[in-house]
Order: sequence, then structure tokens, then C-alpha cells
Amino acid sequence: MALLVNSDRFKSDFDALAQIGATGDGGVNRPALSEAHLAARRWFLARAAEAGLETRLDSASNHSAILRSPHPEARTLLLGSHTDSVPNGGRFDGALGVIAALEALRTVKDAGMALPFHLEAIDFTDEEGTLVGLLGSRAITGGLSQEALKSPRGGRAALAAGLARAGLAEAGLLAARRDPQSIAGYLELHIEQGPRLVQSAVAIGVVTGIVGIRSFRLAYHGKANHAGTTPMEARSDASLGASAFVLTAREMVMRDYSGCVVNVGQMAFKPGAFNIIPGLAELALEFRAPDAPQLADLEKALLGLAQVVGRQYRLKLSVEPLDTCVPAPMSARAQAAITAAADSLALTHTALPSGAGHDAQSLAPFTDAGMIFIPSQDGVSHSPREFSEWEACMNGANVLLRAALKMCEADGR
Ligand code: HGY
Ligand code: MN
Ligand code: MN
Repeated sequence: MALLVNSDRFKSDFDALAQIGATGDGGVNRPALSEAHLAARRWFLARAAEAGLETRLDSASNHSAILRSPHPEARTLLLGSHTDSVPNGGRFDGALGVIAALEALRTVKDAGMALPFHLEAIDFTDEEGTLVGLLGSRAITGGLSQEALKSPRGGRAALAAGLARAGLAEAGLLAARRDPQSIAGYLELHIEQGPRLVQSAVAIGVVTGIVGIRSFRLAYHGKANHAGTTPMEARSDASLGASAFVLTAREMVMRDYSGCVVNVGQMAFKPGAFNIIPGLAELALEFRAPDAPQLADLEKALLGLAQVVGRQYRLKLSVEPLDTCVPAPMSARAQAAITAAADSLALTHTALPSGAGHDAQSLAPFTDAGMIFIPSQDGVSHSPREFSEWEACMNGANVLLRAALKMCEADGR
């Protein structure tokens, strides 16, 4: 059946969601479990209920709309992404995939199709890691550990405050695990967040694999002192170590680790006054590699470099390991379904790896997981400048819909 999503309904929902937590410059500010994010999730459930879909919240606060198969014992095909954003992010990252999933369920329901699987449009909690990272998707797949909750990327206080706002218990995060036998697969539509599709003028990216991500909190310890009277050569200035590390880490990765990236997204000097030599410099270090061996090599090289820099500037270094998002290959079955769906719509497509992390990497070891990318204008993301043409969004939503139907056919039950 040559099914297509309802463009007007899809666009008006996308625009409505983009208003929740809007920053006025085209972006959104909906960090996980913030008031704006909670409002977005209430809106999503209300839209699902208006469409006559079943709605569900699990103990990790994953929000779902469900279209039941006529077969009660059917497995569930998950379609989803996330409505949380990075601080002052874009309105497409995550949100597009959640709205497209909802629209796919409504389109199948309107067509009165009886499928071998239940369809579930799911909005995963805290994909972005402003609290933990891939929190909701790791909760349902058993990939979340006490360890990950003990030293979350966003800090324990932010996690506790977010859980309190959402009325969640921490224990619930670990109790949300689902039975892998009950899941028939996972598909996610997402903007590419990079320049490749737009540069090659290809409509659809069939994702082959998702990058691994590792995070550490580093701190250089020097000696706070008077900025005016302490001779330059006698300073134990923590800011020098931090600055030297950022610059040399970038040079090292560009020289020796092609295909990998490193980022220091936060740097804080303490006590933090004009006239005090920083005694402490804290850095939020994140690095990414396409596979586990390269991620391990990169970790060794970067932590080794951090030690060398500490010695060079006579600073003590402390290293707090945070989280790892494991690199994940996408399922051949899901990639085939996405490719066939793009072909059925006469859309150009190409296979490509994802340099961004996604919930699909939590699902990959758990079920057949696949991702569909659409072009990002200028490759920009995690910024209010994030933008994709509406035609591209429609292409993506129709590929998601038809790939889901292909996954049902392929099951042959
Ligand atoms: O950080 C990422 O790669 C994703 O956007 N969460
Ligand atoms: Mn995302
Ligand atoms: Mn993101």
C-alpha cells in the first residue's frame, strides 16, 4: 500500500512542539526533565490521546503512544527519538523523530491497517545527557547501571532535581527494562546534524553505525594566589594546564586519530575572580570514535596527554570517569527496510555512519535497530541555526512509515 503521512497534520504538530521551550531565535531550550520538557511530553501524550491511541509512561518516564495489532501476543515495533534538547539547541534534533513516529501511527490507524506488530511511538528520556545520557533508552534495554547514576554527566544534584520535577524515583530508572523478546525492532528518524547529505545532495541517509562516546571530568589543581604580586615565574596557575590540554588534545586528535573527535564543552576556573590566580581548573572532556578499539586507544592517549600537561605546568591532575555510550552497528534488516522504503519513494539514499550519539545505539544490542537521516542545512545542529527543509522532513517521515511496514512484512508472521 503506497501510504504517505498527512503533511498538514505532521507540520502543524512539529510547529506546535517547536513552540514549547522556544528561545525566540528558531531554537528550543528543553533540557531533560525541565519544566519546558515536561510540558512538551504532556503535549505529546495529549496529541496521541486525541488520535485515539493508547498512551503509556514507564518508570524511566519514557512517553509512548501505542497502536495495537489485532494479535494480542504480537511483538512491538518501536519508532521514536527524544523531545529533550541541549541547552539552547535546535527544534529538529530529536523532536522530528518523535513527531514523525506519532504521525506514522496515525497514518496506519487512519488506513485501518492490521499489522503483525503493535506500533509504539516512543519519546525517550534524557537522550542528550544533560542529566545522564541515553537515559530512557538504556533504561528499557538494561544498559543503565547504578554506576552510571552514581556519577552522571550533569551531576547528582541536577539528576535529583529533574527526577523530583517529574515525580520519578531513581529506582524506577533501573526497573524500566523491557523483555527483548517483546520487541520486534526500532527505527528512528533524525536530522544528520552534519554536512554530508546536504553536500552530496542525497535525500536519505541509511545509518550503518553510531559513534562511541566517552566522558570524563578533569581537574588541574594549582595554587590560588594574588594576581598582582605573585611573580609570573612563581605561579602554579591551573588555567595554564587546562588551556594547554585543550589545544594539544585537538592537535593530537587531528594528527593521529582521523575519524575521531575530542571536545571540552565546559571549563571552569576557581575561585574565579579577576585578581586571583586560578587554583583549580575543571574541564568537561568528551571524545568519540567509530568503534570500541579506537575509543580505548583515544582514551589512553588523551588521559596520558592530560598527565604530561599536568607535570609540565607542575599541577596535580584529578580524573573522574563518567559515562560511556558504546559504539553500535545498525541492523542489516533495518537498513534493508529503510533502503527499500527510500526506493519505493524514488528518493536518493546513501549509507553513512553517525558522528552523533542516538538512542538507537542503546537499542542496537537489544533488537534490530535502524536510523534514517535527512539533510541538515549547513550541517548545523545543537544550535538555534539548526534547520532542515520541510520537504526533507516529509521524505524522512514517509521513509520511516514505509520502513516500519517493510519490517512488518519482513517478519512474515
Ligand atoms: O551528543 C550527541 O551526539 C547527540 O546529539 N546527543
Ligand atoms: Mn538527537
Ligand atoms: Mn542532540
